[in-house]
Amino acid sequence: MKFFVDTANLEQIREAQDLGILDGVTTNPSLMAKEGITGEVNVLAHYKAICELVDGDISAEVIGTDFEGMIKEGQALAEIHENIVVKVPMTKDGVTAIRWVTDHDIRTNCTLIFSAGQAILAAKAGATYLSPFIGRIDDMNWDGIELIAQIAEIYTIQGYQTEILAASIRTPLHIVRAAEAGADVVTCPLSSILGLLKHPLTDIGLAQFLADHKKANS
Ligand code: E4P
Repeated sequence: MKFFVDTANLEQIREAQDLGILDGVTTNPSLMAKEGITGEVNVLAHYKAICELVDGDISAEVIGTDFEGMIKEGQALAEIHENIVVKVPMTKDGVTAIRWVTDHDIRTNCTLIFSAGQAILAAKAGATYLSPFIGRIDDMNWDGIELIAQIAEIYTIQGYQTEILAASIRTPLHIVRAAEAGADVVTCPLSSILGLLKHPLTDIGLAQFLADHKKANS
């Protein structure tokens, strides 16, 4: 399973990169706004900076909602760097845009996925990645992980090549359960990735090893 970090914050991207396990980055308009990145020139420059930091797939989301706007933006984003993956929302125009840019050798991440039907449509359109939003489904008192498992089963049966990118991860346990459910990729806040490191028995065990070593060598 690939690990992407879900942020536009360069410090956090660098920290995730330094861990040595990072395969890519996802962003969205909210994450860009959170970093104060505004205006087309600054947005494109920020994506370029991310591409220079991480040698992996970098999802950059279109803002346009009509077909023409999406393909124009998609082409401009794809020109920034070969690792850019154009993130397109699951709408009627979005599906048509995914088909068009895919046919023009631009890779896509179909975002805002909340049902298996949407997942089938995105795969048919040729999306490279599919982003079901686990945390937002859980927020509605449904089970986001169940959706990942359902999509994984459908994609296996149908032989779809689209990679399932579990998004809207809120906890380290989401990462583990997404892996169990068959996700190809998880995109997570840095805190959830770092949360995977933690176990009190690891801390207790290490303290004991170090204490025994010190005692034996003093
Ligand atoms: C990533 O591609 C998504 O945009 C992101 O994971 C959404 O996460 P959120 O539901 O925490 O905003």
